[in-house]
Amino acid sequence: MSRLKDRVAVVSGAATGLGRAAALRLAAEGARIEILDIKDASETVGEIRAAGGEANAELCDVTNEEQIAEAVRAIEERHGKVDILVNNAGILSGRTPWHELTYEEMNRFVQINYLGYFNVSKAVYPLLKKSRHGRIINVASRTYFLANPGQMAYVAAKGAVMGMTRVMAKELGEEGITVNAVAPGMVATPGTEAHSNEEAFNRVMMNQAIKKRVTPEHFAALIAFIASDDAEMITGQMILCDGGGYLH
Ligand SMILES: NC(=O)c1ccc[n+]([C@@H]2O[C@H](COP(=O)([O-])OP(=O)(O)OC[C@H]3O[C@@H](n4cnc5c(N)ncnc54)[C@H](O)[C@@H]3O)[C@@H](O)[C@H]2O)c1
Repeated sequence: MSRLKDRVAVVSGAATGLGRAAALRLAAEGARIEILDIKDASETVGEIRAAGGEANAELCDVTNEEQIAEAVRAIEERHGKVDILVNNAGILSGRTPWHELTYEEMNRFVQINYLGYFNVSKAVYPLLKKSRHGRIINVASRTYFLANPGQMAYVAAKGAVMGMTRVMAKELGEEGITVNAVAPGMVATPGTEAHSNEEAFNRVMMNQAIKKRVTPEHFAALIAFIASDDAEMITGQMILCDGGGYLH
């Protein structure tokens, strides 16, 4: 498939998990991948290159504006533009009653899971403006709708991502840049496996309309579609890939 041939895609948090699957899928469709991650992403880069694709990674904390600026400078030197930005880097949470949450813990989730998306979007924006197919794809979470007890810090930050997505979609429409939020069901990744066991994943699956585990690859396929020209008139939306686990 070459839907994304020669598009430049920046994917944050692609050293592991959902971001890694998104980077592999976008590369398989022809995109040139740029990864921003606080962790070493050389395995993802190696896998893409071994398959004949193009990928680079920058070590970068999405809460650190200087590191982001340095990474974006390197991307500009390599490509001169960005077509697709997938804001995905984030932290997952365990369960803590809201009144036991500290200010520091609330702030940590807001800084990484919400302001991290803002920081990277703002830094990449001048390069996105140079694209004729601009896409911002924000990985959100259906926990906002489910209002998971014990996950207020995480849920609040992900809810803010949806607000940001809707406003940016309106502001960037004139420039032809679409901005959407996408959210998976509960997918096994290093991030979720740290807090949940097999029984928890299977329990979530049994509440879905389609009783099959959602994989990182299912979710990556949604991201590739939103990144493609087929989705040029889809903007300001929140799209779930959860096997019908949350039906409105
Ligand atoms: N897996 C799920 O079930 C699920 C469900 C809903 C939403 N999400 C969201 O999907 C995204 C990816 O989650 P995942 O499950 O793949 O988790 P993961 O922990 O497996 O991967 C997260 C990646 O983000 C990177 N990262 C974390 N903090 C960073 C920072 N400050 N700067 C740069 N990189 C950073 C990590 O190094 C890692 O590579 C997150 O935003 C998460 O909230 C996941």
